[in-house]
Amino acid sequence: MFNDMFNDMFDDMFDGQILGHERNLTPQFAGDIFRNLSKNYKAIALRFPPDLHSSPLPSAVTKESGMPEYKLKVNGTDVNLNVDVEMPLLWALRDVLGLVGTKYGCGIAQCGACTVHVDDMPVRSCSVKVSDLAGKSVRTIEGLANGTELHPLQQAWIDVDVAQCGYCQGGQIMSAAALLARNPDPSDNDINTALEGNYCRCGTYNRIRSAIHQAADFYDASGLSMNSGEDTA
Ligand code: FES
Ligand code: FES
Repeated sequence: MFNDMFNDMFDDMFDGQILGHERNLTPQFAGDIFRNLSKNYKAIALRFPPDLHSSPLPSAVTKESGMPEYKLKVNGTDVNLNVDVEMPLLWALRDVLGLVGTKYGCGIAQCGACTVHVDDMPVRSCSVKVSDLAGKSVRTIEGLANGTELHPLQQAWIDVDVAQCGYCQGGQIMSAAALLARNPDPSDNDINTALEGNYCRCGTYNRIRSAIHQAADFYDASGLSMNSGEDTA
């Protein structure tokens, strides 16, 4: 029985990474374990801040008055961010807007865990400043589905059971979505090239390629147009 509950908990965690949120976990102890894991990730990130993150933590700077305001569109919604001029986009997404599906990995544009789209192009959100993005449109893993309708990549990820620990998968999917938007029928080499900056310490690369091919086949069969998510207009 304990094993079943534990497996359910991790299934929910993995799917949550693909959808950009953590699902409700039952029983209660499973939620407690997950929150502790999340706290540990954050604690590790704060304990070893890279040089890039020498600016004040966002939870502190956003409470101060006098910060400049930057207007962006995030997942189709206009937002005004009053943040430090040096704040990386990743900080604003996670700690100001609460969009925690985008992950902190390396902080120096090397791992791909923080990948989002800016004006439909994949970018490392740890290494671009909010102040450089005024007027631009940002899409995160939370904005990839169209309402309750999963993006074909998210459905393929679940069908192929891609995720292992899940930590890198949001970034992998965002890079894959950008690839399919410009190349509807990518070869394995195309996929390897487009996602070479997205690292998976669990080694799920074969399943990632399978899922991308499945999503491409879905588009081909359905005749739907490629895009990186819901309409942002
Ligand atoms: S956290 Fe941004 S690339 Fe690693
Ligand atoms: S699934 Fe664990 S790092 Fe990619």
